Amino acid sequence: MAIKDLTLVEKHLFICNGGTCTKNGAEESTKKIREYIADEGMEAQVHTTKTYCNGRCNDGPVVIAMPENVWFKGITPDFCRKFVQQYVVKNQLPESKVLFDYEEKAIRVEG
Ligand code: FES
Repeated sequence: MAIKDLTLVEKHLFICNGGTCTKNGAEESTKKIREYIADEGMEAQVHTTKTYCNGRCNDGPVVIAMPENVWFKGITPDFCRKFVQQYVVKNQLPESKVLFDYEEKAIRVEG
């Protein structure tokens, strides 16, 4: 059993592993996100949690990030390295993957 030191956690990623997101690669995305976080030596600062369906199946794989309160869409396995490098390491939002930002209160769509 792992005992996480929560005083060190700066980001918490909720990675959807519901049925539809899993069909779209969420299980592999989860593994890759965790692997790349470890590669960056950020396991203490970033906590990840697998969830059930988050109600946005058509946008999956979905990742919800706290404390920024941002929902990401389409975090497929091939995007995970860029996701970790851009968002986790540099604290930048990959704009094309932002689905919802609680501060803006608008669902973002392509086009
Ligand atoms: S299965 Fe991920 S949002 Fe529904």
